[in-house]
Amino acid sequence: MNEKAVLGGRFRRFVIGMDALLQDPKPEQETVEGCAALLKALVDQDDWLPEKYAQPHPEFYQQYLLYCDPGARYSVVSFVWGPGQKTPVHDHGVWGVIGMLRGAETSRMYWPQAGRLEPAGREERLEPGDIALVSPTLGDIHQVCNAYDDRVSISIHVYGTDIGKQSRHVFDPATGAAKSFVSGYANEMAG
Ligand code: FE2
Repeated sequence: MNEKAVLGGRFRRFVIGMDALLQDPKPEQETVEGCAALLKALVDQDDWLPEKYAQPHPEFYQQYLLYCDPGARYSVVSFVWGPGQKTPVHDHGVWGVIGMLRGAETSRMYWPQAGRLEPAGREERLEPGDIALVSPTLGDIHQVCNAYDDRVSISIHVYGTDIGKQSRHVFDPATGAAKSFVSGYANEMAG
């Protein structure tokens, strides 16, 4: 099955843009900025995400793989929040660009400080069309919540690797203690 074709024109244009962006190696900042512009164009219209990648789970937020670059230079995920759902405090270990498609989410960054985690700055709220960045250089540890407790929210995430296979960490914010995890994907489709 050709998932790019299934996902249609707008998403196909995004993938073509990402492939062009990553054709030559470039500094992370340039990659992230280019990706942010492409993702902004993608999430500015909420008319392309197939229903099967927009399904919430009653208990757990869902991460559906929409596309993985054959060389694992990047992957694209739809992140589907049920009402009131939230992540643990976690990191990524790689650059990531988040674009809000539907509903809203709130995010709080944390910085490691003397073996503990300190909340950094104010809570950030993303509305449809908004873009946020994470990376080990920009700030990589955060906790994200559905801003709504009575409806589904969806954001589209792009990461600089096959994020479902990436070994990363969840943290206890009180102690800073880290535990390794691999997120996988809610769907079985693989790159
Ligand atoms: Fe995250």
